[in-house]
Amino acid sequence: MTAGGTCGYADEYADFVDLRTLGAFVTKSITAEPRAGNEYQRVIETRAGMLNAIGLANVGLKAFLAEKVPLLEKLKLPVFVNVAGTTVDDYLAVAAAMEGVKVVRGVELNISCPNVKAGGIEFGTDPSQAATITREVRKVCKKNILIVKLSPNVTNISALASAVVDAGADALSMINTLKAMAIDVEKRRPVLANVTGGLSGPAIRPIAVRMVHEVYAQVARPAGVPIIGMGGIQYPNDALEFLLAGATGLAIGTALFIDPACIISIREGIADYLRRHGHSSITEIIGALKV
Ligand SMILES: Cc1cc2nc3c(=O)[nH]c(=O)nc-3n(C[C@H](O)[C@H](O)[C@H](O)COP(=O)(O)O)c2cc1C
Repeated sequence: MTAGGTCGYADEYADFVDLRTLGAFVTKSITAEPRAGNEYQRVIETRAGMLNAIGLANVGLKAFLAEKVPLLEKLKLPVFVNVAGTTVDDYLAVAAAMEGVKVVRGVELNISCPNVKAGGIEFGTDPSQAATITREVRKVCKKNILIVKLSPNVTNISALASAVVDAGADALSMINTLKAMAIDVEKRRPVLANVTGGLSGPAIRPIAVRMVHEVYAQVARPAGVPIIGMGGIQYPNDALEFLLAGATGLAIGTALFIDPACIISIREGIADYLRRHGHSSITEIIGALKV
């Protein structure tokens, strides 16, 4: 599937690849009210990835329902709506509205957002806040699958995973971007107007693989909760690392900016690996890492 926020609302990506070849489409983060996002410069390429501080720019719930959902309906694909906010009520408003949208199969909570009521601490860096938001959204999420997207900006990601699984998450997405920074040495100023941003792409892949490995062993496998792995996947072997570490689903973001069709070559590469190793189903390699 596409990684949330990297392919807009699908029409932006439709010219580059036949979207019907995807397993699912994940939207940009949707918030209750429209957001203009951060000042420019919001994106910079790094040596092995990308640093972004978009600031959750999006059309807001009302325009999403009126203007974007009709386009998503044409995809004939399962759609997951990535949900963000600065209060629990923000998340609830968007998640509840998605119950009425047929093409939406689930919501993915982006909990890497500052909680205004808790002094700006990210929901996703505090297990108790992450559990609260998951528990509250769970109550309004009936037909929809509830995915919680974990922040890697923590010391113990398994504690977070465990908190949201206990609170009712159906699946875990991991990982979101890592907090990072770049400096223009001539101007002696941060490159991003927001000062810091989120690092993605190949640079973060080994961190993401390690985190999937830990969460799979400590939380997801015992609880029977699937992981959607992401973070720097660009080639088939990258995807295979995530599957062997325990991911059931895969999402691709930054690599699509380099090669929008890599999602297809990655799938073909996985199929080729399965054939070479005599497997009849991808499920045979999920978590098949030997340690
Ligand atoms: C330009 C850009 C925008 C993103 N926007 C969002 C977003 O709106 N919501 C979200 O949960 N994650 C967002 N992400 C994070 C990605 O979904 C993904 O978790 C992360 O980039 C790691 O995967 P990748 O290395 O394949 O890009 C964004 C990433 C990028 C590069």
